[in-house]
Amino acid sequence: MKYFLHRKTEAFPVIFIFMCLFSSKLAASSKDFSIKTVCRGNPITWNLTYQSNVASLLSELASKSSTSNQPLRTYSNATVGKVPDMAYGSHLCRGDLDAQLCHDCVVNVTQALSKEQATYECFGFDDQCMVQYADHPIYSLYRKGFVLSYGGIGGIIPNYEHYNKTLSMSITELVKEAALGQWTRTNFATRVANVTGSNEKIYTLVQCSPDISAMNCSSCLADLYSYVPARCCGPTSGAYVNHANCMLMYNNQSFFGGGHAPDDHSGAHGGFVSFPFHPAQLGKTNGE
Ligand SMILES: *[C@@H]1O[C@H](CO)[C@@H](O)[C@H](O)[C@H]1NC(C)=O
Ligand SMILES: *[C@@H]1O[C@H](CO)[C@@H](O)[C@H](O)[C@H]1NC(C)=O
Ligand SMILES: *[C@@H]1O[C@H](CO)[C@@H](O)[C@H](O)[C@H]1NC(C)=O
Ligand SMILES: *[C@@H]1O[C@H](CO)[C@@H](O)[C@H](O)[C@H]1NC(C)=O
Ligand SMILES: *[C@@H]1O[C@H](CO)[C@@H](O)[C@H](O)[C@H]1NC(C)=O
Ligand SMILES: *[C@@H]1O[C@H](CO)[C@@H](O)[C@H](O)[C@H]1NC(C)=O
Ligand SMILES: *[C@@H]1O[C@H](CO)[C@@H](O)[C@H](O)[C@H]1NC(C)=O
Repeated sequence: MKYFLHRKTEAFPVIFIFMCLFSSKLAASSKDFSIKTVCRGNPITWNLTYQSNVASLLSELASKSSTSNQPLRTYSNATVGKVPDMAYGSHLCRGDLDAQLCHDCVVNVTQALSKEQATYECFGFDDQCMVQYADHPIYSLYRKGFVLSYGGIGGIIPNYEHYNKTLSMSITELVKEAALGQWTRTNFATRVANVTGSNEKIYTLVQCSPDISAMNCSSCLADLYSYVPARCCGPTSGAYVNHANCMLMYNNQSFFGGGHAPDDHSGAHGGFVSFPFHPAQLGKTNGE
């Protein structure tokens, strides 16, 4: 299925959320954490200058994340070309990745984006990193409601009520802490919580791009958590939600240190459930 937004929507971001139709594609693999790309607009096939700026930008972002470019940057931004054909982009890696994993992920995602025909704005991501580009500045811009994907992972938790309570407390704490901006890593934190009355633990990871404020990071994470009960992931052990500015992942076994959360499909809600968003669905949690 392929959707295009034919007209550039200037009344961004709120109007965009309601009107948007994405062109999105899952890479050939059926794994949950294969690379995904989401693009807005029609392919700009006639615009060779912009296309070539995008190509240079993607290779610049890949090289900025290189392990020889120390200290490791979990985030970088870049611009290539001249207005009006300028391409603006950034990369973001999960804060628990080492330099090599971050670089590998960015290289893979930029390659996936390079294979797409350039449109005026694209995102590429998996569960470890995200690369985005646009024909307008995309830094320091918190885009409320701009969720890219979400899905449940793992199996069904039999006693979900207890599990859910712990999960909710854990994430609520992280959302509060995010607003205070006191984490040791900018806009990145992990949490392990014990599920009351069982030996089970919930591992939660949150990350915002460092170019948004602590306050907006907190809003972004709260926004993501609002997807979890409403959209997906009800009784599954884990879930992930990706937004243009932040991400949230949790599961009942550790995936910290660069691991992929196991994508076991035993749960009825397991799998990738997001693309393309139905405008009506988006309106519901957007709260505008
Ligand atoms: C771009 O990234 C650099 C660090 O690589 C950062 O210092 C700068 O603030 C970023 N620019 C914006 C507009 O976020
Ligand atoms: C090429 O694309 C850029 C980015 O969308 C746009 O600003 C520019 O006006 C386009 N140029 C032409 C000649 O269409
Ligand atoms: C990058 O892609 C290669 C080849 O498809 C794969 O072996 C590797 O695991 C990927 N790396 C990451 C970090 O996803
Ligand atoms: C949060 O983001 C919005 C744009 O979505 C911006 O208008 C606002 O100033 C930001 N707030 C803070 C505290 O940075
Ligand atoms: C996580 O939850 C699944 C589904 O209930 C269960 O099969 C698995 O054993 C749990 N893992 C741990 C480490 O508790
Ligand atoms: C979780 O339980 C373990 C013992 O099983 C304990 O050592 C640890 O402090 C507990 N963590 C929290 C956050 O309560
Ligand atoms: C889990 O807890 C949240 C927050 O308390 C609630 O909104 C949601 O409905 C609960 N989900 C389930 C499946 O019980």
